[in-house]
Amino acid sequence: MGENSIPSFKAADLVVRPSSRPKAKQPTFSFGTAFTDHMLSIEWTLSEGWQTPLIRPLGSLSLHPACSALHYGIQLFEGLKAYRGDDNRVRIFRPMLNMSRMARSARRACLPAFDQSELLECIRRLVELDQDWVPHTASHSLYIRPTFISTESSLGIKKPTCALLYVIMCQAGSYFNDEAEPVSLWADPKYTRAWKGGTGDCKMGGNYGGALLAQHEAMDYGCQQVLWLHGGDHQITEAGSMNIFLHWINEDGEEELATPPLDGIILPGITRQSILELTSKWGGFKATERYLTMGQLCTALKQQRVKEMFGSGTACMICPIGRVFYQGETLRIPSSRQEISSRLTSRIAKALTDIQSGHGLQCDPPFPTE
Ligand code: COI
Repeated sequence: MGENSIPSFKAADLVVRPSSRPKAKQPTFSFGTAFTDHMLSIEWTLSEGWQTPLIRPLGSLSLHPACSALHYGIQLFEGLKAYRGDDNRVRIFRPMLNMSRMARSARRACLPAFDQSELLECIRRLVELDQDWVPHTASHSLYIRPTFISTESSLGIKKPTCALLYVIMCQAGSYFNDEAEPVSLWADPKYTRAWKGGTGDCKMGGNYGGALLAQHEAMDYGCQQVLWLHGGDHQITEAGSMNIFLHWINEDGEEELATPPLDGIILPGITRQSILELTSKWGGFKATERYLTMGQLCTALKQQRVKEMFGSGTACMICPIGRVFYQGETLRIPSSRQEISSRLTSRIAKALTDIQSGHGLQCDPPFPTE
């Protein structure tokens, strides 16, 4: 039993069956396409509980065609990254926050509880085994994708009696094509990403698959991503699969970095939380969780009170926003005309990169690379 008394698998029992044919480690930074040699898998059944965690060569899953993860989307995932520091040691960025968000998503998906520290320890062992895949170049990383699916082989819609938790990993560069290049957003209330009482604040695949059609419609309007609006007042919620920030002079004349509050429709992003924690200590402006509407953004743009707008997420880290297409008009965000080095996005990106490469305290302690 784990430290917080949840019946769970134990990292101490982990079985490792290493691959006899490791792949050549050619750097492939195209997001989510080139996977490392090994995966972690842990099975669960209602009658027998959690089974022994296993690290084995990456391979296909065998699922019953009635598997309820496929039919009813009873599944969830996480995304976290490991970085190679200047000291050549590998660190995972704030992984316990991902473990606890994963546990929250599992509750929402009616998947079983697990001990978060034990899972993290198993992931650490996986990263250690495949550490040669962690890129040596700054701003590149190893993306870790824990996934938890119901393996129930029944068409009845019911709480799973069997499940599989697995973790795969791939190298990651920039999620979008050019990291510094601002993205364009299509803001239209036609599609909704999340609603109160829904699953938008959990990391479930349906939130992302359900967004695909809107993403394609955004492209028809010449935009790269969707700016998700909510409610009659067109509240700004998220951008694509990112949390969103607005750096502006607010209605009271104060300089503010604002992001929508975690009110049930916003994904509690780890990068979002890190940006709030970092910038609230910087001074010069306040970092706030508050509602923002398109009306407020339009007025602020007209009055030249907007400094920058950007998205944040594990995959992209920080992504500047250059323009928003809304109600037939293109709203230009002024930051795209500023020098890159003078942007707040650059300062935040540098602060995060410094932490990830070992100059800060917020990354997990490294493990030896030899
Ligand atoms: C992440 O930033 O980790 C995400 O969830 C984006 C992913 C869906 C590609």
